[in-house]
Amino acid sequence: MPNIVILGAPGSGKGTQSEKLINKYNLHHISTGELLRSHIARQTDLGKLADSFISKGQLIPDDLMIDILAHTIDNEPAVKSRGVILDGFPRTIPQAEALKKLLADRDLAVDAVIGLEVPEEQLVERMIKRGQQTGRADDVPETINNRLKVYRDQTEPLRQYYADEGSYLPIDGTGTIDEIFDRIQAAVEGNS
Ligand code: AP5
Ligand code: MG
Repeated sequence: MPNIVILGAPGSGKGTQSEKLINKYNLHHISTGELLRSHIARQTDLGKLADSFISKGQLIPDDLMIDILAHTIDNEPAVKSRGVILDGFPRTIPQAEALKKLLADRDLAVDAVIGLEVPEEQLVERMIKRGQQTGRADDVPETINNRLKVYRDQTEPLRQYYADEGSYLPIDGTGTIDEIFDRIQAAVEGNS
């Protein structure tokens, strides 16, 4: 079963395209951002801690995030039976190294990394619009700027990391949702 990482800046369409991928390929979806937001909504201890980072546009520390991911994978049999799409993890080189080991220990591997590439002005437009429509707490200008900076500093190096591993599939993330999904399908199927 394929295990796919969807990589991209805040607002690049990871969640939107993950929905389409899980429907088409029957994959299990793990979004670390959604998982953390559900803890914030339930005001769990993890939620309270996560909120203190997310509201500033900072990343949750690697050790904690890696433990959460391992726990999520081990409690979800569908990961092994159907394959998984990881949305929002990894976000740093240490997370990518940990993911490699975590999957290898379970006889699994990352098969493809979809890299959604979108110019920064469009990212900001999308997030501002969503913030107005849904009230998502980190979609406000100052936090958006910090999320983009954190992405450039800590997450963008993963493009080269996965290119070196031979699994990076760069995708033009502009245009309509369906146009982008067509590009993803062509890349994933050409790669399999
Ligand atoms: P996370 O929830 O992962 O947020 P993000 O990476 O900032 O990305 P978004 O969810 O904002 O965007 P997306 O790429 O999913 O795009 P979407 O499809 O929604 O993480 C949130 C926070 O949690 C982080 O900042 C961090 O603090 C913490 N966190 C999470 N994982 C972590 C980890 N591994 N380590 C440490 N900390 C972690 O689309 C965006 C908008 O655009 C939507 O409104 C959508 O409808 C619209 N849209 C989508 N496609 C198009 C299109 N083609 N044209 C026009 N609009 C479009
Ligand atoms: Mg998302």
